[in-house]
Amino acid sequence: MCGIVGFVGKKEASPILVEGLSKLEYRGYDSAGVAVLEDGEIKVRKFKGRLKNLDDNLKQSPLNGTIGIGHTRWATHGEPSDINSHPHTNENATISVVHNGIIENYIKLKEWLKKKGYEFYSETDTEVIPNLVDYYYKGDLFEAVAKATSKMEGSYAIGVICKNEPDKIVAVRKDSPLIVGLGEKEYFIASDIPAVLNHTREIYLLEDKEFVIMTRDGIEIKTEDGEVVDKEVFHVTWDVDAAEKGGYEDFMLKEIHEQPKAIKDTLTSRVLKDSPINLENINFTKEDLEAFDRVFIVACGTAYNSGLVGKTIIEKLAKIPVEVDIASEFRYRDPLITDKSLLIVVSQSGETADTLAVLRDAKRIGAKVLAITNVVGSSASREANHVIYTWAGPEIAVASTKAYETQLIAMYMLGIYFGEIKGTLSKEFADELKEELLQLPEKVKEVMGNKEYIQKYASRNYMDKDTFFLGRGLDYAVALEGSLKLKEISYIHSEAYAGGELKHGTIALIEEGTPVVALLTDDKLKDKMISNIREVITRGAKVLGIAYEGDKEAEQICDEVIYIPRTSTLLAPVISVVPLQLIAYYIAKQKGCDVDKPRNLAKSVTVE
Ligand code: M6R
Repeated sequence: MCGIVGFVGKKEASPILVEGLSKLEYRGYDSAGVAVLEDGEIKVRKFKGRLKNLDDNLKQSPLNGTIGIGHTRWATHGEPSDINSHPHTNENATISVVHNGIIENYIKLKEWLKKKGYEFYSETDTEVIPNLVDYYYKGDLFEAVAKATSKMEGSYAIGVICKNEPDKIVAVRKDSPLIVGLGEKEYFIASDIPAVLNHTREIYLLEDKEFVIMTRDGIEIKTEDGEVVDKEVFHVTWDVDAAEKGGYEDFMLKEIHEQPKAIKDTLTSRVLKDSPINLENINFTKEDLEAFDRVFIVACGTAYNSGLVGKTIIEKLAKIPVEVDIASEFRYRDPLITDKSLLIVVSQSGETADTLAVLRDAKRIGAKVLAITNVVGSSASREANHVIYTWAGPEIAVASTKAYETQLIAMYMLGIYFGEIKGTLSKEFADELKEELLQLPEKVKEVMGNKEYIQKYASRNYMDKDTFFLGRGLDYAVALEGSLKLKEISYIHSEAYAGGELKHGTIALIEEGTPVVALLTDDKLKDKMISNIREVITRGAKVLGIAYEGDKEAEQICDEVIYIPRTSTLLAPVISVVPLQLIAYYIAKQKGCDVDKPRNLAKSVTVE
């Protein structure tokens, strides 16, 4: 996910572009850049890192010009670096392009262009676009962009400027968002409405393959065949703040709602019915797997909780014993890791100090390291031997939600992948799991339908001082995540316990009215869990059950039940965690807490 902007008018372009980009940083902030037409030449400034680097540079040495394009990057193809930053230009800088999306056939296009004599400098897919436009340019920018995009596969929203048509921006989208802002003798393009709201509230919402041709004298929308499209103007009534969060009150709620898409994106092209799991560049053989003396999963916080699910999955599906540990503990334990071990590190940011320290120690010893991370170009992704990216998109709220979900998906894919290679998993069971994995986005969406019920539950329970989460098997791992979510954003003390363990001490804390959230998704362990629920009810607890639709027993024993759609027991964590995230969110909101930026916390813990 990246953000693009463009401006043509009578004012200086670069401050407007930078201000627009500042509203799109939520889409990625690995690098930022602008291209401005100054004295008839395309001038590009682009820097790795936050937008501030670009802003500081432009303040010190401004670019003067009234037309330009800008970009803020969430790296996918090529690590974050100055050279991989956008805008990209052709070799003699006559065409410049900003792009959000992925050009899936870029390798083919690149090879083809190379044969025609074009040179490439970055690792990006985007760099083919200005060269392709240049190849087709015969004096009409729109025609050249239309021809170039007809050769491109994948998703894109692009803005293009051309030295030979210095008053014009041509833009188009396919499967990536793009809007047009309509001002007085000035026009804007942007990936999202907030980027233009300080200038105009009149917007065109572009459809796929609608081309915008804008100069300071006017704007035209055309199809790729050149037919003019008559578009309705959309008047924006909401304010900038709400718009950045896509209309949601907070990033956390937005990110909870993005989970079905994040899961789908993480599964795409890796899990297909009736085909073996495809983890891109990861190619272990049966011999490799059998040669590992130990497999460790090491992480912190929520990522550690996903590792607990990973352990069960890999052990069950691939029959490989796995040890899970907290990074800050593991590193000082003199762990029994050797040059024959496999270390799996899990980190949304890929920058957590303790996790990186473990990764580096393991590499020094000669162990193989596989990183599961959400951030392309992060230290974990660069330093590990193998990477599985979780395609959750930027996670801005401190409390991790969609990253956790996609980490679970990575664990399932890895478990099935190992099982398929080792031959420990029957084809029937693997196919069944794959089919169920592909259904998860819809099932997660269904749970969101319970929002209002959960909100009411929160309004009755937000004054509680303590909450207990109980589960057995995978439900216990999810209970830990639910408990972490509640305490980090609502500041209510909470603990997660394995159902059978409570009576070994902690049950002493249960008294009249103590809230308990009990997970009941494991059919094999359900009777045991019911007994554990009875134990706390006898001591006065009020119990909220999380159970499958149609579970009458849960209804009979618990005070209240939130129902979730049925799935294979192994996959249940992906669904059962959603009500727990929503409970934490609504309780924190009722208490008036800042859910996106809870006290004492940072999104990425880069110190020990
Ligand atoms: O970026 P990482 O996944 O390495 O971060 C690990 C933890 O700091 C993180 O999961 C933290 O526990 C979250 N705030 C939990 O919501």
